[in-house]
Amino acid sequence: MNQQPVVAVLGLGAMGHAFAANLLKKGFTVRGWNRTRARGEDLIPLGLTLSERAAQAVEGADVVIAMLSDGETTHQILSDVQSALKPGATFCQMGTIGTEATDALLAQLTQVRPDVVFIDAPVSGTKAPAENAQILILASGERSRAQEAEQVFSAISKGQVWLGDAGASSRMKLVVNSWLIGMMQSLSETVILAEKLGFTASELWSVLEGGPLAAPYAKAKLDMISGGDFTPQMHLIWALKDARLAKDAAGDARLPALENIIALWQQAAEAGYGEQDLASIYQYLKTKEA
Ligand SMILES: NC(=O)c1ccc[n+]([C@@H]2O[C@H](COP(=O)([O-])OP(=O)(O)OC[C@H]3O[C@@H](n4cnc5c(N)ncnc54)[C@H](OP(=O)(O)O)[C@@H]3O)[C@@H](O)[C@H]2O)c1
Repeated sequence: MNQQPVVAVLGLGAMGHAFAANLLKKGFTVRGWNRTRARGEDLIPLGLTLSERAAQAVEGADVVIAMLSDGETTHQILSDVQSALKPGATFCQMGTIGTEATDALLAQLTQVRPDVVFIDAPVSGTKAPAENAQILILASGERSRAQEAEQVFSAISKGQVWLGDAGASSRMKLVVNSWLIGMMQSLSETVILAEKLGFTASELWSVLEGGPLAAPYAKAKLDMISGGDFTPQMHLIWALKDARLAKDAAGDARLPALENIIALWQQAAEAGYGEQDLASIYQYLKTKEA
């Protein structure tokens, strides 16, 4: 019989909260921890054991998910929990933390807890797809030892792509987000141009719809722009973080559009748009119109 692993979710933000909720719905035993406890409290009636400390949450867990904002935070939390991890547990790093931080975590675990399996598993998909278990998991690491992680991934996603040795998926994640970030910038400028030439965002979509340029992601962002609702699916500051991680990982490759986006989105964050969805870059650009 295929027993469900016990899961600990560290980080109950937009994405981690959705993972924990889906696991609870599917009958998993889930332990959670979040720096700001209030963000996990609504899951307690669904069965979540909400711990005061991260190290408490991982005790006895077969699979540990870290879904934290960045590499520095994930490193800090791993250091807090590493000695409390169950022997032979699987540690899945699922945030977008870049290649250097991923390699450093792997090295840290290999040194301190060689019994623990490290799976590099960032995700493609934003808050709403995460809530509906419709994200895609980019996984890498020792798949032959990751059956329990795969059970967990199946419960929170529409699929998994395995990409090789640990670290490969964090590299691919930067590639995917570079595309997403470029698309968002281009879409914002396209809507501004459309408006200048007398068209609405809806009219633009009516022309794109059904054709090869009609990406569902663009439609979701056009709807945000049309509705003026920039409630974060993905915070602009996290997208800016990813743009920087991609640029750093690119080494000496020239990525001029990405470099310009980093400078522009930094200005937008400084102007107060950081906590809004990345589609608010459109709004920021509108404020710059004469
Ligand atoms: N949202 C998306 O569309 C999306 C999609 C794919 C990947 N990602 C990536 O997934 C990760 C999480 O994203 P999210 O959207 O869930 O972000 P979020 O809602 O901002 O959640 C961030 C999480 O990190 C925790 N955190 C931040 N700084 C911390 C610190 N110093 N110590 C302890 N905990 C800390 C937060 O705790 P508090 O609640 O206490 O602040 C929260 O649990 C990021 O790497 C992001 O780039 C996001």
